[in-house]
Amino acid sequence: MNPRPDNRGAAIDLESVTKAYGAFNALDGVSLRIEPGEFMTLLGPSGSGKTTTLNVIAGFTDVTNGKLLVGGKSVVGVPAHKRNIGVVFQHYALFPHMTVGRNVAYPLTLRGVDQMKRKARVAEALDMVKMGDFAHRYPNELSGGQQQRVALARAIVFDPPLLLMDEPLGALDKKLREWLQLEIKRIHRELGTTFVYVTHDQEEALVLSDRIAVFNRGRIEQVGTGRQLYDEPATLFVGRFIGDSTVLRGEARSDGTSTALSIAGETVTAPRRLAGEADPVMLLRPEKLAIRRSGQAAAAGANRLSGTIAEAIYLGSGSKYEVKLADGSTAIVRSPLTGESFGLGDKVELCFDGADAKLLPDDSTADTTLT
Ligand SMILES: Nc1ncnc2c1ncn2[C@@H]1O[C@H](COP(=O)(O)OP(=O)(O)OP(=O)(O)O)[C@@H](O)[C@H]1O
Ligand SMILES: [Mg+2]
Repeated sequence: MNPRPDNRGAAIDLESVTKAYGAFNALDGVSLRIEPGEFMTLLGPSGSGKTTTLNVIAGFTDVTNGKLLVGGKSVVGVPAHKRNIGVVFQHYALFPHMTVGRNVAYPLTLRGVDQMKRKARVAEALDMVKMGDFAHRYPNELSGGQQQRVALARAIVFDPPLLLMDEPLGALDKKLREWLQLEIKRIHRELGTTFVYVTHDQEEALVLSDRIAVFNRGRIEQVGTGRQLYDEPATLFVGRFIGDSTVLRGEARSDGTSTALSIAGETVTAPRRLAGEADPVMLLRPEKLAIRRSGQAAAAGANRLSGTIAEAIYLGSGSKYEVKLADGSTAIVRSPLTGESFGLGDKVELCFDGADAKLLPDDSTADTTLT
């Protein structure tokens, strides 16, 4: 399929969007700018408002309050079929009584596109998803992955400036999902259309997206590239949702420039302090924690915590350890293949540079809403 002439899709602006169901706000003041041609993923746990946001953009759900612009124009009150948006859902909503070819032609038939053009566009769309040889088959003669590729062809065949996808790979096995993720990425690049993609799988979000919006309880906690969310999480929830992490909690003392946490008698410090009154916690990524057997000489100035190996997982490229700390919490450490290896019950020490600890306000919902 030819890329869009300007090779760009539509911008989307959500401004303070609220969606209420009775007294409950499924969306609670969501603001988000999606750039033309961007691949934006809405990521978050079950019930956090991802599908509701997609439905609001598609026009399947009205907003209760706030503004919604597609391509710079307000679409509040515009019915779904007049928004010219392509949509793919988790469950392949193909028409069972139509062949693949007729399924994909359907949006063009609706739009009164003539037969010659229709044939050419259907062929192009099916080629793009590598289903060119299947036009004569019926949906029940296809695998799940093939049906989902047909659904994708049907959503792009009319060249929409915006494509919305709600967990389109959720029903597929891991291998197929990983392959289709790369296919979706390629199709996005070739079309130049704006993609908004919903998933609760953080790895999938990292593979696909230009940027990710992290949802929690009807709000967006942070928007950024995968790297920004991993390296600079704005909240404890985001830090825990993206990638592996260790959260250190303890009795906190702050002076003007640093924060110390006392954790079951051991003290660690970070060269920063939090503004505000919230209790500070330290978040550490696995690669920032060094592990070694207890009793070896420490590097000067490093923070140390003692623990016991509670789980050792061989990953091929190295090992991952869960280490039980003195206060009963669990730290996650990764160690390269070349490093020393440890077994269950081994007494170890974890060391880290205080500058590598992210200091964040504590948030009890961050632990309970993980999927
Ligand atoms: N029609 C409705 N009536 C009442 N509550 C609703 C309705 N639709 C959604 N909700 C509620 O709104 C919240 C957000 O739902 P939404 O479908 O957007 O979640 P989600 O992030 O897509 O979750 P999942 O990952 O499980 O699909 C949920 O608490 C849900 O129960
Ligand atoms: Mg959903």
